[in-house]
Amino acid sequence: MNKNYQKQLKNTELLIQSLPWEDKAFYSNYLAQTYYFVCHSTRLLARSISHFGVERDSLYRRFVAHLKEENYHERIAESDLLAMGMSPNDFEELAITKAFWESQYYKIDQTKGTSLLGYILYLEAIPVHCFKGILKYFPENANRFLKVHMEEDPKHLDHVLQVILELSVAEQDQIWDNYHQTAELYQQMLLKLADISRLVVKAA
Ligand SMILES: [Fe+2]
Repeated sequence: MNKNYQKQLKNTELLIQSLPWEDKAFYSNYLAQTYYFVCHSTRLLARSISHFGVERDSLYRRFVAHLKEENYHERIAESDLLAMGMSPNDFEELAITKAFWESQYYKIDQTKGTSLLGYILYLEAIPVHCFKGILKYFPENANRFLKVHMEEDPKHLDHVLQVILELSVAEQDQIWDNYHQTAELYQQMLLKLADISRLVVKAA
């Protein structure tokens, strides 16, 4: 296990717990940016899957199963946003959000599919470890994206860690590198959202 796995989650938790979730505009933009990058989850999985030939059948099957689980999750973020009285069209996709998912396509091709496990691991770990106590700030019909992932991801997490441990040391290194890159870019995205919400408050 990478020694900084938990430390990275702790950093994310401290940041998440300090954000202005009670601010409707902040949470709505968070949902919009989430919608934008989650639109790529199934496509990123499909890109990885295309690298797994029959000699990597077990990875192929695990990724196909994961793709099925992720199907239409972007619609959950969109429906939460609609419940907040907004839609993704009300928010521009931030450059940091694009950097977050665009880099994954490159890494997938560079590592023949396996690096995506670092991105998956981080995104499945944060609802479980970092978002505790946040749901109370949102109406029940607008918290489904986080709620679904808090409920579903604990069992996925052990599974993903097991898959990573079965790979070569070189592949594991690339996965951990991507895990930390994903964590840092995600935190940059949250900080940008907090900046925007502060600017809006000041201008009001
Ligand atoms: Fe999901």
